[in-house]
Amino acid sequence: MIQHLAIIMDGNGRWAEQRGLSRSEGHRAGARAISGVARAALKAGIRYMTVYAFSTENWKRPKAEVTTLMGLISEFAVSELPNMMKDGVRLRTIGRTNDLPFAARTALLRTIDLTAKNDKLILTVALSYGGRAEIVDAVNRIIAEKRTAPVTEQDFTSYLYAPDIPDPDLLIRTGGEKRLSNFLLWELSYAELYVTDTYWPDFDEKELQKALASFGGRKRRFGGLNEQNQ
Ligand code: FPP
Repeated sequence: MIQHLAIIMDGNGRWAEQRGLSRSEGHRAGARAISGVARAALKAGIRYMTVYAFSTENWKRPKAEVTTLMGLISEFAVSELPNMMKDGVRLRTIGRTNDLPFAARTALLRTIDLTAKNDKLILTVALSYGGRAEIVDAVNRIIAEKRTAPVTEQDFTSYLYAPDIPDPDLLIRTGGEKRLSNFLLWELSYAELYVTDTYWPDFDEKELQKALASFGGRKRRFGGLNEQNQ
């Protein structure tokens, strides 16, 4: 069983290029794809879905592209609210979200607030997120507490951005690249990886089913000798 699905949504730019469209159009199509996949995940019994929407490195992209992405994030928070309420989806974010423009922060906070009691699917959007930044932020929080007791792995987890969310069971990366790109470095330790050449805007329920079928055929050992039930 998959409790938590994590997704690196890659390939928006190449999807657009293939069609002679601008990169912005690719991101727009990518933003549209999220709700369909979230609904399909919910239908498949998945409780948590975390998507990588904007990395700490993405600030280095051309200013116009960053502005487009920030606009799409605000739009997403506003336009998806009715669907989230209907489907019981709760919106959360992880990352250095204070770095986002005021409009995006406000739109997100409103939807986070209004969906806080929904519990069918927890949709976490990683924004201005970096796995190393998350670990460094956790270390700095520990230092700020002037804690002197040694830290166990379990203690450390409690300083991460979303300590109450279980580790992902499966990571899907669209767009064919076989790397983690600084996503959930701590949390993905034992996740199964699934890479597809499909570009994110084309990723739909059928594609998700393929990924879930691939996961279903794997044996997870968590470093031990005995296979554990999925
Ligand atoms: C990669 O495409 C994707 C991103 C930079 C982030 C994903 C963003 C979205 C799906 C849209 C906005 C998000 C929300 C939450 C509304 P790429 O540009 O790296 O594609 P390429 O590798 O083909 O150039």
